[in-house]
Amino acid sequence: MTTIKTIQLLPGGGFDKIVVATTGSRDPDPGEIRVKIHASSLNYHDYGVVTQGVASHETRIPMSDGAGEVIAIGAGVSEFKVGDHVVSTFFPDWQDGEPIADSFARTPGDGIDGYAREEVTAHTTAFTHAPQDYSHAEAATLTTAGLTAWRTLIVNGQLKPGDTVLLQGTGGVSIFALQFAKLAGARVIATSSSDAKLARMKALGADELINYRTDPDWGMTARRLTRGRGVDHVIEVGGSATLPQSMLATRVGGHVAVIGILSGIEGPLSIRLALSRQLRLQAVLVGNRTQQQQMIKAIEANTLRPVIDKHFALEQIADAFRYQESGQHFGKIVLDI
Ligand SMILES: NC(=O)c1ccc[n+]([C@@H]2O[C@H](COP(=O)([O-])OP(=O)(O)OC[C@H]3O[C@@H](n4cnc5c(N)ncnc54)[C@H](OP(=O)(O)O)[C@@H]3O)[C@@H](O)[C@H]2O)c1
Repeated sequence: MTTIKTIQLLPGGGFDKIVVATTGSRDPDPGEIRVKIHASSLNYHDYGVVTQGVASHETRIPMSDGAGEVIAIGAGVSEFKVGDHVVSTFFPDWQDGEPIADSFARTPGDGIDGYAREEVTAHTTAFTHAPQDYSHAEAATLTTAGLTAWRTLIVNGQLKPGDTVLLQGTGGVSIFALQFAKLAGARVIATSSSDAKLARMKALGADELINYRTDPDWGMTARRLTRGRGVDHVIEVGGSATLPQSMLATRVGGHVAVIGILSGIEGPLSIRLALSRQLRLQAVLVGNRTQQQQMIKAIEANTLRPVIDKHFALEQIADAFRYQESGQHFGKIVLDI
C-alpha cells in the first residue's frame, strides 16, 4: 500500500467542501490494472457534482475523466502492459451494445470515486488505450466530452458528408462535435454568446456563425442558412431554454440530440412541432467502451487534437471550477496531476 494525494469532496458539496487529503493505493487484483493518473478534465457534470455533492451524501473523490500510465497489472490481464497510456471510461460496466444504465451510480466521480487522485487501481474495463501520440492532458478530454460528441454524431446520427450540424456554445462537447463533423465532411453552423469565440470556431472550420445572445431567434436564422430546409442534426446542450429553437431549426425527419441542461432541465415541449416535423429527439448519456475505442481509432487516423483552454494543478481544482463557472473557457479545462 502506497500513500497518494487525493481530492475529497465532503458531503453536501460546494467549493468550500473540497479538501486535499491522502489515501492508500493498492496493488491490482486479478483482472485489474494500477494506473498513475497524470491528468483529468472538467465537464459540466463534474461541476454539478462538485457544487451539489453526490446523491448518496457521501464523501467522494470527484472527476469522471482520467488519463495516465499503467504501472502494474493483475493476474490474467493481457489487454494492457506496464507503461501503456490509458484513458478512463465513463461507464466502466457498459462494454458494448444498447445502454444499460439509467443513472450515474457506477460512474467514477459521481456514484463511485473518480480521478482527482494520483493513482487508481481498477478493473481493465475502467480504461481503454489512449490515442498513440496524445499527451495525458489531451487524452483526459475524451472520456466525457469527446465520446458524447462522437456517439451523438457518428453512432446515433450516422452523419454523412454534406449534412448540416447546428452547435450551441463553445464548450467541450460542442468543439469536439465541430471537429468530428468536419472530419465527416459536414457543414457546421456554430453559435456562441461571444463574437470572439465565434471567430475561433471559424478558424477551427465552422462554416456559419450566429451569436445566440444578439440573435434570440437563432433557430430560425440557422434554418434560413439551409435555404429553409432545416439542419440535419442539432447538438442540444442548452436544455429547456434552447430546445424550442433547436426544434425550429431542424429539418423534417431531422435529429435533435438531447444532451445538455445548461439553461435548465425541465420545460414545455411542443409535441405539435415534434410530430409535424417528425423529429428524432434522441437523448444521450455519453457512450460505451467499444464506442470509445472506435472514436480513438478515428482520432489516430486523422490526427485530431482536442482544444485545451487552460491547465490547473490538482490542488487548484476549486479555481478550475470557478473558471468554468465564469464561462470564459473555449473548449476544455484540464487538471494536471
Ligand atoms: N448527456 C451527456 O452524455 C452529456 C455529456 C457531456 C455533457 N453533457 C451536457 O452538455 C452540456 C455542455 O457540457 P460541456 O461539458 O461541454 O460544458 P462546458 O464545456 O462548460 O461548455 C459550456 C458552454 O456552453 C455555452 N452555453 C452556456 N449556456 C448556454 C445556453 N444557455 N445556451 C447555449 N449555450 C450555452 C457557453 O458557450 P459560449 O461561451 O460560447 O456561449 C459555455 O461556455 C452540459 O449541460 C452537460 O451536462 C451531457
